[in-house]
Amino acid sequence: MNFNQECLRKSLAGKFIGHPLYYFEETGSTNDEAFHLGVAGAPEGTVVIAESQMAGKGRMQRAWHSPPEANIYTSIILRPLFEAARAPQVSIATGVAVAEMLEDYCPDKVRLKWPNDVLIGEKKICGILSQMKMSGAAIDFIVVGIGINVNLNHEQFPSDIQKIATSLLMETGREISRMDMIIRLYENVAKWYRELTQNGFGPVRGKWISLSAMIGRTVSVMFQEETLKGRAIGLGEDGSLMLLTEQNETRLVSAGDATILKKR
Ligand code: BTN
Repeated sequence: MNFNQECLRKSLAGKFIGHPLYYFEETGSTNDEAFHLGVAGAPEGTVVIAESQMAGKGRMQRAWHSPPEANIYTSIILRPLFEAARAPQVSIATGVAVAEMLEDYCPDKVRLKWPNDVLIGEKKICGILSQMKMSGAAIDFIVVGIGINVNLNHEQFPSDIQKIATSLLMETGREISRMDMIIRLYENVAKWYRELTQNGFGPVRGKWISLSAMIGRTVSVMFQEETLKGRAIGLGEDGSLMLLTEQNETRLVSAGDATILKKR
């Protein structure tokens, strides 16, 4: 069943995130739509929602599986006033917001994997893709794109990701109202975004670490041709992953694909 647009608009009226709301039955990518709206001057809190995406985008130039009427595909426009170096903190805060929201559905099973994958157990349930537009040295806006696998069953995932992806339906055994979920999602993103803009990165970082699947574990991070291995020990101010290498050096990794190698 499609989102009930009228209901959604009513529930989001007066909220910090959720209006204006642009709804598409089908689009290429909600991030692309939101980016165009951002360039045209759309205010902070504008959201784009789609029932399906023809060219859903993931990190590292990957595609995001986006079949109709089962999942959440949404992008939010934010215009933080802090310096551009802090932009990755917005994605980290969004990961925290999604994870905390999902805990209501799957208590004690939600984990975060750097930079901002949300996992249930070891499988990915949500991906976040942020894109930024600068104005000189300052942030003009950030588009935060969120994809959550909600009512898909195992067979509905492409075979190459069946082993690594999951959905709320698969985890809870019941259909979940996407309507309730998206309202809670925007509420929680607003909550953690406010925390970040008013109180700095500390509280977000603390919550991220408490939900992290990585801290204290040996991980390898691959970026382009380089692979770096070490024990994950924290997050840097710019949202980078802090690793302690076998040579006892502290290294910060700002981008890449992380794999957890060993248990604590
Ligand atoms: C990842 O690779 O983990 C990030 C996936 C992000 C997917 C979401 S779905 C809504 C928004 N629109 C896109 O094209 N991508 C993001």
